[in-house]
Amino acid sequence: MKKTEFARRRRQLMRMMGRDAIAIVPAASIKQRNNDVDYHYRQDSDFQYLTGFDEPEAVAVMVPGRPQGEFVMFVRDRDPARETWDGARAGPDGVEADYGADHGFPVADIDEILPGLLERCSRVYYTMGVHPEFDQRVFGWVNGLRAQAKKGLHTPQEFVALDHLLHEMRLFKSRPELDAMRRAGAIGAQAHRRAMKLAAPGRMEYEVMAEILHEFHRNKADISYHPIVGSGPNACVLHYHANDRQMKDGDLLLIDAGCEFDYYASDITRTFPVNGRFTPAQRAVYEVVLAAQHAAIEKTRPGNHWNEPHEAAVKVITQGLVKLGLLKGKVPKLIKDESYKKFFMHRTGHWLGMDVHDVGEYKVGEEWRLLEPGMVMTVEPGIYIPRGTKGVSKEWQGIGIRIEDDVAVTKGDPEVLSDRVPTDPDEIERLMQAA
Ligand code: GLY
Ligand code: MN
Ligand code: MN
Repeated sequence: MKKTEFARRRRQLMRMMGRDAIAIVPAASIKQRNNDVDYHYRQDSDFQYLTGFDEPEAVAVMVPGRPQGEFVMFVRDRDPARETWDGARAGPDGVEADYGADHGFPVADIDEILPGLLERCSRVYYTMGVHPEFDQRVFGWVNGLRAQAKKGLHTPQEFVALDHLLHEMRLFKSRPELDAMRRAGAIGAQAHRRAMKLAAPGRMEYEVMAEILHEFHRNKADISYHPIVGSGPNACVLHYHANDRQMKDGDLLLIDAGCEFDYYASDITRTFPVNGRFTPAQRAVYEVVLAAQHAAIEKTRPGNHWNEPHEAAVKVITQGLVKLGLLKGKVPKLIKDESYKKFFMHRTGHWLGMDVHDVGEYKVGEEWRLLEPGMVMTVEPGIYIPRGTKGVSKEWQGIGIRIEDDVAVTKGDPEVLSDRVPTDPDEIERLMQAA
């Protein structure tokens, strides 16, 4: 992402905040894994969105209209001894030179400097509850000023939820963001192709996961969530994560795996037969899920409301379940009383962006919001028939299928960002047999 993109976002945010206001955004904190070892650091999405700065222990501050400079950053000081262990730091000078900060200060000095910035502002834009320890420091600074209000100091009067503004901005993806998401989709799709080629009876689920991870990392991407590699009965476990079963002839394999490239996620699911050939029962269920996915994607158009793709998927799945004999009754009634939920118990999608379940409201007041160009969502219907499901003939039992793609709403047709791995069952069989 270019520097100009981060500058554009800050300008847009500050325009919405107006004068007499300040925004305070802390970096993600470091999470300890165990003695002396931390989890791999991943920057907070809001902080990254506004700064492009990936170091911990930093605070970004924006003060629209401040004559000495609107964008202030507090960051770790340079420290040659620490940098020998942990790598280079930008330092206060570095954020001025390379990250567009008007002023960079050592984060160790924040208690002395930040109250002075707050003093001029009535409204404090801040997201509460995400960084509880930092919340206390912000309250401390504000209360410290209020205590001095009698001396005639101008003090902040109002806390405003920053996330309302910021998450609304993040919901609409700019051109560079869509480019990053296309790349995340392409790398993710390629990883799924490799998984299809590698999977075979006798292989372990974790071997397939390793193949996927290899494709991510060789492209400078990381996981956007822990991959689900569920074969046989595990395909029906929605959040399966052990990935340690040996695959058997006749199994389906459900893989839900996506990557994060330059802070943007893909989220992709494919389901295919481990031996490269769908059984007639597997194919029959698969074709219902695929038709539901196509119907839902067709609805991801501007002017339709958020729930229309889901409603389209529910209709096709319910019709299919009746046709297969898995549900009995009239389709409208089965939809109304939610009988389909026995086999399709999750929603058809979610916003996608820097976070895999991305930020952004799904409703405006009581109403589903309308889709607009620049929004990106997943479309992921499924049918799950665990072994032992009552009232279901043996031939269907153990089948679990989900098909998930990432779809950008455009002025024209929906753009499927993850379409470089097939969903068509014949194409999947051909790809696997060519392996
Ligand atoms: N991989 C998480 C989801 O599909 O929502
Ligand atoms: Mn998924
Ligand atoms: Mn998803």
